[in-house]
Amino acid sequence: MSRQIYRSTWAEVDLNAIGYNISEMRKRLPDHCEVVGVVKADGYGHGAPAVAEKALEAGAAMLAVALLEEALVLREARITAPILVFGRVAPQDVPVAASQNIILTCFQKEWVHEVNQLNLPYPVDVHMKWDTGMGRVGLRTKEELAELTEELRNSKRINLTGVYTHFATADDAGFEYFKMQNNRFDYLLQFFKSIWHKPVDVHIGNSAASIRFPERMYDHMRFGVSMYGLYPSDAVKAERDIELQPAFSLHSRLAHVKRLAPGESISYGATYTTDEETYIGTIPIGYADGWIRKLQGADVLVDGKRMPIVGRITMDQTMIKLDQAYPVGTQVTLIGKQGDQEIEVDEIAEKLETINYEIPCMISERVPRKYKS
Ligand SMILES: Cc1ncc(COP(=O)(O)O)c(C=O)c1O
Repeated sequence: MSRQIYRSTWAEVDLNAIGYNISEMRKRLPDHCEVVGVVKADGYGHGAPAVAEKALEAGAAMLAVALLEEALVLREARITAPILVFGRVAPQDVPVAASQNIILTCFQKEWVHEVNQLNLPYPVDVHMKWDTGMGRVGLRTKEELAELTEELRNSKRINLTGVYTHFATADDAGFEYFKMQNNRFDYLLQFFKSIWHKPVDVHIGNSAASIRFPERMYDHMRFGVSMYGLYPSDAVKAERDIELQPAFSLHSRLAHVKRLAPGESISYGATYTTDEETYIGTIPIGYADGWIRKLQGADVLVDGKRMPIVGRITMDQTMIKLDQAYPVGTQVTLIGKQGDQEIEVDEIAEKLETINYEIPCMISERVPRKYKS
């Protein structure tokens, strides 16, 4: 049951932007290459079910998540498209995945062996993960590949339907490591084809690899951060091979406005003191919403103009310095556009010395997501 929203802070998710980004990506891909919409971490903080639905409507053929729980949320939302789970699912939980037709990732022969002992009531599809240099999960050698393939050959309930790898540096300015991973993948793929003759789907590319080398993406590309309209790195952004539309914006409304005399301080620690007569606005967003204390000093937009956050950000409320008195209820944009001004997710990431991926993910569940379509 969706709950009534009373608070006046919200994230807006522009689903049309997601549709647009998928169609721009699809235009660049060869016809046989399908888009996998990556909606892990609640759709990178945008809301997985709504994004997934839009992605499928815009032509994505499949979805991917990190956890079995995330796949089940999509099934509960009546999404019937194929869903791949990237992370390891414990063998004892495989029956749940199988019963919901969820594709799992496998990379350990012991895992296949244990699943084979379960007498699964339904068969389960798996994609095999090869670690070509990411160093996270996946098998690394020809020997491991041969052993795992042998286990799969003996399985009556596990269907191998795909093989994949993941790049560690596809968004870098330099390509050396990326090429090395490609070479390792080619080597494993050649060997695999010599020992496994049934068809499988092959996929290697995240946003960065697929934007840069669309023609080399085999059967699928895994569209994550750029489906949401964000570039995977400054290098990819500068190349501008694709025009993306950001889907995420963040807004609040003035809850209180006051005029202070010079010499008055604001918030915990009294770290900001007015040096002249100053209008201060209060907005109902704080670090419990993911708007963390390090954002003190960042700008927000009011009336199409930039105004700074002053004083410490508190758990639930943040103060901003206004250029004049505005009515309570005036919209404040923390990420997004007002008039000809824009605060990009990238600007907030830079302020926090992190990557743009982290920003929508860190805006907590307490901030309702409103969908524009
Ligand atoms: C295995 C895998 N594939 C694809 C992606 C999507 O990557 P990106 O968001 O850079 O497109 C991720 C995200 O981290 C991932 O873990």
